Amino acid sequence: MQVNIALKKTVDTSYDITIDAIPKMHFDTKVAIVTNPKVAGLHLGYLLSKITAKELYIITVPDGEEYKNQKSIDTILESLFNHRFNRKSMLIAFGGGVIGDMTGYAASIYQRGINFIQVPTTLLSQVDASVGGKTGMNNSYGKNLIGAFHQPQGVYIDPLFLTTLPSREFGAGVAEIIKMAVTFNKEFFNFLETADLNNASVLQEAIKQAVQTKANVVAQDEKEHGLRAALNYGHTFGHVIENETKYKTYLHGEAVAIGMVMANETAVSMGLMNKGEALRIKNLLEKYNLPTCYKIENTHNFYETFFLDKKSSDASITFIIPVGIGDVKITDAIEKDLVLSVLNQFGES
Ligand SMILES: NC(=O)c1ccc[n+]([C@@H]2O[C@H](COP(=O)([O-])OP(=O)(O)OC[C@H]3O[C@@H](n4cnc5c(N)ncnc54)[C@H](O)[C@@H]3O)[C@@H](O)[C@H]2O)c1
Repeated sequence: MQVNIALKKTVDTSYDITIDAIPKMHFDTKVAIVTNPKVAGLHLGYLLSKITAKELYIITVPDGEEYKNQKSIDTILESLFNHRFNRKSMLIAFGGGVIGDMTGYAASIYQRGINFIQVPTTLLSQVDASVGGKTGMNNSYGKNLIGAFHQPQGVYIDPLFLTTLPSREFGAGVAEIIKMAVTFNKEFFNFLETADLNNASVLQEAIKQAVQTKANVVAQDEKEHGLRAALNYGHTFGHVIENETKYKTYLHGEAVAIGMVMANETAVSMGLMNKGEALRIKNLLEKYNLPTCYKIENTHNFYETFFLDKKSSDASITFIIPVGIGDVKITDAIEKDLVLSVLNQFGES
């Protein structure tokens, strides 16, 4: 015997991303703003001047990647239960990618899913983390291993927040902008080469283009069955660098910058990119003081650490390799010897 449960989905989960000063918003529901003490101290007053709601609560969790865990999720959920939030209630993620990922995840599981909106405050979260509905948290087995795809109702990217961002955090966001351009958008890359992202209106244009590029990718492959994985360009190598340096030396975007250079060298070895293109990308990264060198002490250990990446299986490693500038190839069929010879180049640096 067999019973069929018909689940053809026709739900439209499209949403708008606004890149401008946050508009005044009123919610006829209970709303909780989830943030951390640093962001609250700098910008909560501004956000509160824009938002009114039937009932409005602030939930604060500690600042930092090390708090992107179950304990913080419990803090959020308990507050929602205490204030009797229901399925019509709304969460607002107010902070960088850590807050955005955790708020989205809490929204995805509270009473099996409530609405949330993203108000990202770092450049990295404005151009990348807040867009596309990937939510989650870390555990002792690794980063982002627990999570859900849960799209926000909207994203409000206000460039004003970036005025207080430390310069290294700014650079880490620029690395992700460059990532979008190299993988999917050659004209955008050309624009970035001549642009000065320290200029506010140029930066706003770059944010728009990066977000548009990511939105196009997510629209084609929301759950990362294929194309969306290309946005992990630089990450396969970058994760090993983060792991080797115990997450202490580099910000994530900085490790990804080095990882992009390594992926480019792999592409050059495979004949998919010429040396001139690789140099243009390196120069652009260095223009924003991003690191592009890393001394690999032991190439074999470095290679083995690839297998810890959740994108890799036991037997193969998934690499995102650029094809020139503006195109990309996802492959798990690169010969180990070729990768080791690329890694050896970094061993000498
Ligand atoms: N969901 C996704 O698609 C996606 C994509 C990329 C990254 N991420 C996640 O994003 C996280 C990294 O995000 P991040 O780089 O924003 O880090 P973060 O959230 O830790 O923010 C970095 C630091 O900047 C502070 N900060 C935030 N806004 C500020 C402001 N306006 N002025 C001054 N300081 C400010 C934060 O409090 C924090 O100390 C990681 O956990 C990563 O896994 C998610």
